[in-house]
Amino acid sequence: MSISEMIRQKAKTQRKTIVLPEGDEARTVQAAAFVKAQGIAEPILLGREEAVRRAASEAGADITGIAIIDPLTSDKLSLYADSLYEARKNKGVTPEDALSLVKDEMYFGIMMVKNGDADGLVSGAVHTTGDMLRPALQLIKTKPGCKVVSSSFLMDCPNKALGENGLLVYSDCVVMPSPTAEELAHIAVSAADTARTLCGIQEPRVALLSFSTNGSAKHELVSKVQQAVAIAHTLAPELLLDGEMQFDAAIVPEIGQSKFKGSKVAGRANVLVFPDLQAGNIGYKITQRIGGADCFAVLQGLNKPCNDLSRGCSVDDIVTTVAATAVQAMA
Ligand code: ACO
Repeated sequence: MSISEMIRQKAKTQRKTIVLPEGDEARTVQAAAFVKAQGIAEPILLGREEAVRRAASEAGADITGIAIIDPLTSDKLSLYADSLYEARKNKGVTPEDALSLVKDEMYFGIMMVKNGDADGLVSGAVHTTGDMLRPALQLIKTKPGCKVVSSSFLMDCPNKALGENGLLVYSDCVVMPSPTAEELAHIAVSAADTARTLCGIQEPRVALLSFSTNGSAKHELVSKVQQAVAIAHTLAPELLLDGEMQFDAAIVPEIGQSKFKGSKVAGRANVLVFPDLQAGNIGYKITQRIGGADCFAVLQGLNKPCNDLSRGCSVDDIVTTVAATAVQAMA
């Protein structure tokens, strides 16, 4: 079973409520119809009812039984405005600003999740990563004990000898452009959590990547990764986590054993933590385009799950991301 199928099956066991702020977008209504029909989750579509119904009709999507909420006429509007004002008044947000913000579907959806009226949110077929991430960062904030929101890409590789039966978790490939050593340590711990809760990997083996293995090169960039390893060990002493190591030392058993003797991670890593966003983003695209891996991303470290899509996403991508958000909401 592919990772996406496994996550869909798991989502069906609890049918979490997932809000879709881009409710009048063609792929989104098609995905919502599929998610509802298959029992993967209870979708909620945001937008003007007439526009949502028109989009569904044009896309041939049956949205019978799916809740449609128009923020402008919702009886929760003033409650959410008050809640947003309380959360952001020390950042200069006025009551008028708060009311104006919650009229926007993205902010309304985030406030639904914050207030427990939805279990999670998925957007990004129209909006950019930053459009969703900023309100999520500002209002949902990080999980207790976690300092940063980051992401993991689940890479389903054709070579089943790699990682966990072909599955590798790559982090961070979306959010943090230039993490400090402490932030990198938090990213590593979050990625292990994603491996466990979303992918069902019982023993995450986390490698912090570099151009050096176990001190083979000396450079400030290498020192940063070494510091991150030390911090991660204090954050999660029970976790199998090692570094710094090169990509091949992380995933090829013979190279891992010869370059990093005694490491329980080298050569058998299933979670790979990249030193910065440039490396992570390039790395996942190489694995996808040249390595032929299927992949999708989730955010991690948020106090409640919100996930982003690529604007080129397919209906299938939206369905998988809704399922993944629902599974994250079960944790
Ligand atoms: N974790 C936790 N909190 C954060 C984080 C984070 N990673 N980043 C910012 N914040 C907080 C800030 O402290 C701030 O909190 P406050 O307002 O309560 O004080 C709030 O979030 C907003 O911060 P801003 O500084 O306004 O936001 P910023 O301009 O830093 O933008 C963003 C954050 C959008 C995540 C930025 O880092 C970004 O653009 N990252 C790259 C996204 C991207 O383009 N990815 C690649 C494409 S996606 C793909 O290829 C699949």
